[in-house]
Amino acid sequence: MKQSAKQDEYDLAYHIRPPKGLLNDPNGLIQYKGVYHVFYQWNQQDTTHQTKSWGHVSSKDLIHWETHPPALEPVDWFDRNGCYSGSAVEADGKLYLFYTGNVRGEDGSRTSYQCMAVSEDGVHFEKKGPLFEQPPGYTGHVRDPKVWQDAEGIWWMILGAQREDLSGDCIVYHSQNLIDWDYDGSLIVERPKLGYMWECPDLCLFAEKDIFVFSPQGMDVLGDEFQNFYQTGYITGQFKANGKFEWDKESVFKELDRGFEFYAPQTFIDDTGRRILLGWLGVMDPAVEAAVPTRKDGWLHALTFPREIIMEEGRLKQRPVKEIAQMRKPVSIASQASTTQTIVLPSLQSELQIQWKEAAEEMKLEIRKAVQIAYSSADQRLIVSRTNWLSKEIEERAVHLQNGLHSLQLLIESSLLELFINDGEEVFSLRYFVEDENEKNIKWAETAIDSRETTLYQLDL
Ligand code: FRU
Repeated sequence: MKQSAKQDEYDLAYHIRPPKGLLNDPNGLIQYKGVYHVFYQWNQQDTTHQTKSWGHVSSKDLIHWETHPPALEPVDWFDRNGCYSGSAVEADGKLYLFYTGNVRGEDGSRTSYQCMAVSEDGVHFEKKGPLFEQPPGYTGHVRDPKVWQDAEGIWWMILGAQREDLSGDCIVYHSQNLIDWDYDGSLIVERPKLGYMWECPDLCLFAEKDIFVFSPQGMDVLGDEFQNFYQTGYITGQFKANGKFEWDKESVFKELDRGFEFYAPQTFIDDTGRRILLGWLGVMDPAVEAAVPTRKDGWLHALTFPREIIMEEGRLKQRPVKEIAQMRKPVSIASQASTTQTIVLPSLQSELQIQWKEAAEEMKLEIRKAVQIAYSSADQRLIVSRTNWLSKEIEERAVHLQNGLHSLQLLIESSLLELFINDGEEVFSLRYFVEDENEKNIKWAETAIDSRETTLYQLDL
């Protein structure tokens, strides 16, 4: 969302960014009385991870966002060091927020309170304070309540947690009235050993199979996987009426997004029944974060464009929500006459789609001299690389495409890219920073020149 008329070469138009200060996790995603609400972790003062409140924007179409006053601010004894992440539900026509009050002791200790706030108009919220005591066996790291209602009317809450043995976990509560909560223990009986803390849990219940999405901190790199500062991914299984998630033990933890910064996503179901996801772009090594060029303009980080997520033939797919079509203005491009081609972007808010008739063989795309996308059918590896703005070195992320490369959809902003592969089978998102606003070239090289369709759009709000 465009925030300023002033010179800000990294400003974003159709991605949510903070007006100033630091944004992290998306919170409280909901469609309430027909309007989409997005809240987000927000440090209003400066671009550091201090004093988090809940920033708030709303929209009728997921494209044009209106800014509201912060919904929650860390001013009470139970949330004085931060109104941390959480979720939203509607009940009796009211909008309820569930969040974690973060309280630090003078000795550096941490206490987490799971809190509620309520609103009748979706803009002004009244805090109701903590809901229950923390269960034994966990450290002060218990947070990020995700609440939903099942078909029988039972409310469920899952929380990210750290056990006293310093392993990551997710715990469950249920309630009949959103006020009194019963503890059900761990979500997963024999849980996978992944990292020292699980943040921002979410359960996506699909007809075919369910997925448990979470963001473990402290995983080791494994080949092309888990290269980011912290990870976000999912395991498949089934959520049962007893509050347990029976996971398919043969399924592995799969990253949701193969790019560099994606973290702490949240999903919700809208009035049309779509499950929509927004994630944070994103989590970074603190030194890399400190060097992000937008800090000079007083803001830091952004959310992904809203994605519809679906389960198709046992595979999770993510696609930009169809509302993106409203912004599209087709731009013609010359048909390719040789194995190399330069496409000039009509604007720094554009979309490029490439559809191969069969499958791509060898191809390389270079975007604004800063990001490369390369694929070879010989090893079926797709590699996305960029220049790191701190080290100035090239860094890459890669994925193996079992069925080859058939389509690419690239959402472009002045300092953010989202790449959807094979109709959303894999996604890479990333931030990138190019000083020269006039650098608008996409350079393309490909062995076969006649086997695909290319569509370019300018994206206008
Ligand atoms: C994830 C996270 C959450 C926490 C919030 C604090 O990025 O660490 O676990 O609630 O950010 O801003």
